[in-house]
Order: sequence, then structure tokens, then C-alpha cells
Amino acid sequence: MSPAESRLECPLLPGLTLRNPLMTASGTYGAGLEGDQFGDVARLGALVTKTVTPHPRAGNPPPRIHETSGGMLNSIGLENPGVDAFLENDLARALELGPPIFLNVAGESHEEFASVVERVQGSGAAALEVNLSCPNVQGGALPFATDAKACEKLIADLVGISELPLFVKLTPNVTRITEIAQAAEAGGAQGLTLINTLLGLAVDWRRREARIGLGMAGYSGPAIKPVALRCIYQVRLVTQLPILGVGGVSSAEDVLEFLVAGASAVQMGTASFRNPLAALQVLEDLEDLLREDGSTVRGITGTMRLPGQAGTM
Ligand code: FUM
Repeated sequence: MSPAESRLECPLLPGLTLRNPLMTASGTYGAGLEGDQFGDVARLGALVTKTVTPHPRAGNPPPRIHETSGGMLNSIGLENPGVDAFLENDLARALELGPPIFLNVAGESHEEFASVVERVQGSGAAALEVNLSCPNVQGGALPFATDAKACEKLIADLVGISELPLFVKLTPNVTRITEIAQAAEAGGAQGLTLINTLLGLAVDWRRREARIGLGMAGYSGPAIKPVALRCIYQVRLVTQLPILGVGGVSSAEDVLEFLVAGASAVQMGTASFRNPLAALQVLEDLEDLLREDGSTVRGITGTMRLPGQAGTM
């Protein structure tokens, strides 16, 4: 292995080491197939697919996206072709791209989560990202990412039927994200993804209407980066699970901030809408910065300290 490859190497779990910490974020890069028309996505650490559910979903009424200062709102409503069509068409081709695939799954009930997790066993995915936290389904009212007991029970059941490692994607729209993270860990999760979008609203005051069809929506982009960093830091203090950091990352400096705060790998999402090559470009810069700093991805993760370990609330 070359010094550059060794610097970027990103061990997540026994048997799951990424060649570098750059991942795509679910819902922002399809299954990687379109991105591959622009650049060599094989160089990325991993690809995270758009959420799949047991049955096809048409998604939410338009408008579904609204750009704001500092980010964007989305309310897609987990549109997807359903797990069977996804496995047959998209996943089969995504696996040929090269990077490990994190298959993002969700449901509208305990039974739906169990059914989709069962269906994707043996699919060739490297891991599952369990999306407990979509704010655009049932108005964000599903309890799994906001109620510690519901979270632990669901994850324990899913771990019981999954041979694939489970990374649990949590919402920042709670009072104490640490409690939900600890519940996921108690349920047997092998990792966490922090954070999903913040619940937001854009208003067209002239029309006296919301700018998104269903009203409220998930806010992502650079403006949420400090919230993501705060959540990662707090959760790092209370769990040993590897954390996939996500929220407003658009540069190699951002990636290093996430790693130092406690992420083991970093997902890029909204930035890819502006530039489908964003993650690949950041990867080049990341290698340069690590070399200049004399550090490695493995060595730098979780190295930030606040005075007196503040932030453990
Ligand atoms: O509306 C959506 O499909 C968003 C999903 C998510 O944020 O998890």
C-alpha cells in the first residue's frame, strides 16, 4: 500500500475497511450510477443508496425542493421503486461500480423495517444504513428516532434478522440525541449515521403559502454543519460505535473537522447537487491536507477535546 493509500485508509468495523473516508449521502447520489457518468466514483470510500422501502413509493406532492440561503429544503417522501425492483435494477449495477455499498432502508412501521431488512440479506451490500429519521414521512412522527425505547426495540429486532452490519441514521430533531444513540447501541447497532436533516419551513409570504408541497421539509447544506458537528461530538462522548458524519460538508477542511469531532467517515450530500464531482475533488484535497499535517484518517478521528469535556448533556 502506498503512503497516500495508507493515510486515507478508513477502518470502520472488523471486515469493513474503506479505502478512504469519503462517502455519498443517501438520497443525494442515487445508486452512484449517474455520478459515474461525470467522474470515477470507484475512487470513493463507499456509496450510500437512496432509501428503499418494502413497496414502491410515489413520494410527496411537488414542490419538493427549495433552495434557501445556506442550504436547501427537501420533501421527497422516500420516493423509490420498492426493494425488489431496486435490487434487480439499481443495486446490481451499483455493485459493479466498485466501492462498498451501504444500502439505506426504511419503512413506515416496525413490520416494514423488518421486511425490508430481511429482503436485502445476501444482496451484496457491505452494510445497511437504517433510516429511522426521514422527516417527510408521516410528518416525521414515526417514533423510532425520537423515542429511545422504540429505537432500541426496533434495532434489536433488526439486528436479530440481519447478517449485514447496521448503521442507524438519527435525526437532530430531538432534545438529547445522545439518548437515542445509546438506545441504538443497546439494541446492537454496529454504527451510527449523524445527522439527518433539520425540520424546516420556507414561506412565500405573498401567496401566504409554504414553498414546499407538504409544508415542512428537511433542511440540509452548509448551514447545518455546526449542528452536525455538535451532535457527532456529543455522541462520540457516550458511545464507541463508528460514526458516519453528514451535514453540510463541502470541502476537505470540513471533512477533517468532522473526523476530529468524532466521525470515522464522512458523507457528502447537498454539495453533490451543485457539483456531482464534489466528493472526488474533496478527496484530492484531503490527501494533501493530511500529508501536510503528518496525520492519517485513523489517527485523527475523535481527537478534539473541549475544556472539561463540555457537551455531555
Ligand atoms: O423525503 C425524503 O425522501 C427524505 C429522506 C430523508 O431525509 O431521510
